[in-house]
Amino acid sequence: MGSFAGLDGLDVAGNRVVLRTDLNVPVKDGAITDLTRIERAATTIKELAEKGAKVVVVCHFGRPKGVTPDLSQKFLVEPLAKIIGRPVAWCDDVAGPNSVAATKALPNGGVLLMENVRFHPEEEKNDPAFARSLAELGDLYVNDAFSAAHRAHASTEAIARLLPSYAGRLMQAELEALGRALEHPEKPVAAVVGGAKVSTKLDLLGNLVAKVDMLVIGGGMANTFLCAQGHEVGKSLCERDLADTAREIMAKAEKAGCKIILPTDAVVAGAFAANAPSKVVPVSEVPGDQMILDTGPASAAEIAKLLDYCKTLVWNGPLGAFEIEPFDAATNFVARAAAALTVEGKLLTVAGGGDTVSALAHAGVEDKFSYISTAGGAFLEWLEGKDLPGVAALKN
Ligand code: 3PG
Ligand code: MG
Repeated sequence: MGSFAGLDGLDVAGNRVVLRTDLNVPVKDGAITDLTRIERAATTIKELAEKGAKVVVVCHFGRPKGVTPDLSQKFLVEPLAKIIGRPVAWCDDVAGPNSVAATKALPNGGVLLMENVRFHPEEEKNDPAFARSLAELGDLYVNDAFSAAHRAHASTEAIARLLPSYAGRLMQAELEALGRALEHPEKPVAAVVGGAKVSTKLDLLGNLVAKVDMLVIGGGMANTFLCAQGHEVGKSLCERDLADTAREIMAKAEKAGCKIILPTDAVVAGAFAANAPSKVVPVSEVPGDQMILDTGPASAAEIAKLLDYCKTLVWNGPLGAFEIEPFDAATNFVARAAAALTVEGKLLTVAGGGDTVSALAHAGVEDKFSYISTAGGAFLEWLEGKDLPGVAALKN
C-alpha cells in the first residue's frame, strides 16, 4: 500500500467517520440489477460500525445536475441495511447544520446514509468550501471508493486534505490487486484488451505495451490493427483513420519487447445479430460483405496456450461480440482457460472496467479470477498509468 494509512490498528470508537464509498449500482425499471457494489462496500462499513464508529456514508448515484428526485439514494437504505445486517438511518441532505446534527446524534456503531452528494454542483467542482462542509460531518475520513477515485471531486479529493484520511478495505484490496498485476507483477505478464473501439483505449494500449510481455488484442479494436497490417476487414467495425496510430502502438510494443497477439482467424457473419449465419475464415480472407464478430477458434486456442507460460494476466474487454451468440465463444474459451489456470494456482488474474465483468460473468468465471475490480472508468484510467486523484489525495 506504500504510503497509505489503512484501517489496521485505527481506533475509531466514538468517532464520526465520513466514509466515501461507491454504491452507484445499476438500476433497471426501479430495481437494482446487481448488488455487487453494495456487497463489496459492506466490509468497511461493518468493520467501522463494529469498532464503535458513527459511520457517515457519503456517496453518489448517477450523474444528477442539481437536486434530482429520481436520483435520490433513499432506495439504498433497505438493501444496505440488509447486506450489512444493521439498521441504516437516512439523512436527506449531505451538507448543512441539520446533517451535521444528524451525524452527532448517531449512537456508536450507528450507520447514516446521506443523500446523493452530487445534488450539490460544488461536489464535481472539487469546491473547497463544500469540502469543508463535508468535513464537518466527521472527525476522520475513510475513502473506500476506488471506483470513483478517477474523479477529483470534493468528497473524493479535497476532503482528504481536511481530515485525517485512511484507505478503506475495498480501496486497499483494489490497490493491492492492481499493484500485483502491473506494478510489481510476477513475470511473464499478459494483458487481454478487447472492446469495440481503439479510440477509447489508445492511452491504455500505449501504457500497457511498455509494461507487459504479451498483449492480446481482441474485439472490434483488433480490426483496426488488422487493417493497419493491410488486411481487408469487409464490413467489420474498424477505425480506418487510426491505422497510423495502430502502427505506432505496434512499433512501440516491438521496441519494448512486448509481443502483440492479433487474431489469425475470425468468425464472420453478414449481420450483427444473434445466430446470424457465420463461418470461420483466416483474417486474410474476410469477405467484403461480411463482418468480424469474434476472434476465431484457432486464435483463441493459441491465446489459451500462451497463457500457460504466463504468471500474471490483466483483462479488460471482451474478445468478440459476447452479448450475442455464438459470438461469445472466444471470450468464453479464453476466460475459462484463464480461470482454470487461476484455480490451479498457476496464474494471477485481475480484471475490471466496463463490459469486462459482465463478459466474465457470462463465461461463468467471475468467482474464479483472482480479483475482479468494482471499478469501470477508474480501472481504465489506472491501466492508462494515470494518477487517480482520489488515491493520490490519500497519500499524505
Ligand atoms: C462508476 O460507476 O463508474 C463510478 O461510480 C463513477 O461514476 P461516474 O462515472 O458517474 O463518475
Ligand atoms: Mg463511470
